[in-house]
Amino acid sequence: MDVAARIAKDFRARSQEIPPRAPADHQSLLDAFNKPLPDHPRPAAQVIEELARAAEPGLCGNTGPNFFGWVQGASHGAGVAADWLTSAWGQNIGPYRTSPAAAVAEMACTGYLLDLLDLPRGASIGFASGATTSSLIGLIVARDAVLKRAGFDLRKEGIFSAPAVTIVLGEEAHSTIYAALFYLGFGEENFAKIRVDDEGRMRADDLAARLPQIKGPKIIVAQAGHINSGAFDPFTEISRLAREHDAWMHIDGAFGLWARAAASMRHYCTGADLADSWSVDGHKWLQAPYDSAFAIVKDPASHEASMRIAASYLDPPPEGAHDPSARVIELSRRARGFPLWALLQTLGRSGVVEMIERHCDCARYFAGLLRGDPRIHILNDVVINQVALAFGPPGAEGDALTAAIIAGVQAENASYVGGAVWKGRRILRVSVSSNLTERRHMETLAGSIRRALDAAAR
Ligand SMILES: Cc1ncc(COP(=O)(O)O)c(C=O)c1O
Repeated sequence: MDVAARIAKDFRARSQEIPPRAPADHQSLLDAFNKPLPDHPRPAAQVIEELARAAEPGLCGNTGPNFFGWVQGASHGAGVAADWLTSAWGQNIGPYRTSPAAAVAEMACTGYLLDLLDLPRGASIGFASGATTSSLIGLIVARDAVLKRAGFDLRKEGIFSAPAVTIVLGEEAHSTIYAALFYLGFGEENFAKIRVDDEGRMRADDLAARLPQIKGPKIIVAQAGHINSGAFDPFTEISRLAREHDAWMHIDGAFGLWARAAASMRHYCTGADLADSWSVDGHKWLQAPYDSAFAIVKDPASHEASMRIAASYLDPPPEGAHDPSARVIELSRRARGFPLWALLQTLGRSGVVEMIERHCDCARYFAGLLRGDPRIHILNDVVINQVALAFGPPGAEGDALTAAIIAGVQAENASYVGGAVWKGRRILRVSVSSNLTERRHMETLAGSIRRALDAAAR
């Protein structure tokens, strides 16, 4: 353990210098890891040293300030320290009785999160592994609830004879929503895709026109924080239509829902509190160590009805408490509340707000640095921490230039950015979501982009 602590502390002390892109190629990593399985035990300290040597060249520098590739957090030190303790304590959080302290830490965090996100205070939270599994949980609860409202007993009759449920979602819903829906047994023919505007927001007028045509149980999936533009769906209108048409409303707020924590940004997600369920990550914008997300459901009874695992060998929780496993799709799992509790106690409300506002300021500052250069097109309205750039004219020539700029920035490796395809164009995506990022790091990235543009012009 001492060896691991020394290596980890040294790594974190170098966070500002770790290259954002992992420098090692695939073959050298294979060579480093593909050692024969030893026939006999070896000293753990030696193995830990070897692990660190093998892994570091293949680590992305996303604990540093110059990583803009995806919405990824930087694993704040307070959460990491508590995560070490979580491993050392070796707690298995499933039912309450397997780790009372871990269960109570999650209950305390439930209060903190509902308060920070300003969601209904009586809602329940499952501490899940990521937004994908949190949306999966929300959608399981949604499916069960709308079928129950339709008079169908899913636990008795099973999914294969259930009435058709329609999933109503924006054309640009995140890919993990589709993944969750496919895991659940839905297919393309069950989706009603609603048109989106220029920022990828679901259009309330199209939703209003389509809903009356959809018969039977329905679930509307809205989005807080579009993956490329950062935009928010019009939640107030969506929730009004959901109520009118007796639909369940789920919000995928993996990173964007954190805008609700800051008074200066809350107006972007007005009405988000009117949904029935939400998925939000801790390991993205909040900077919790990985394996941290929240499946939030307004009605705890529906949440528990879908998730509870009952067995005679699992002792019930004490009066006033609940089994953490009755909120997630796992029984045994990591005690996710400890790192989160330590992180939120360390940052406090103003620490969370300062970081979110700083990242949004960095995104706007960066857009300002590039605006006015005729070679650069900012494709989104920079409202939170996302900037989508394209270079050159629309079409193959511009796409090739954008790909060359991404490759140029990655090769320089002062900053990391990735690409995507949006609005029919290849784009360079910038997500500002590392705790350490400040305006000067945006200047570094802008410099890399300009140098890549100059090189492409030669
Ligand atoms: C809008 C949105 N939803 C869902 C996810 C998936 O989150 P996770 O990787 O935590 O499963 C992401 C990831 O970037 C996202 O941006």
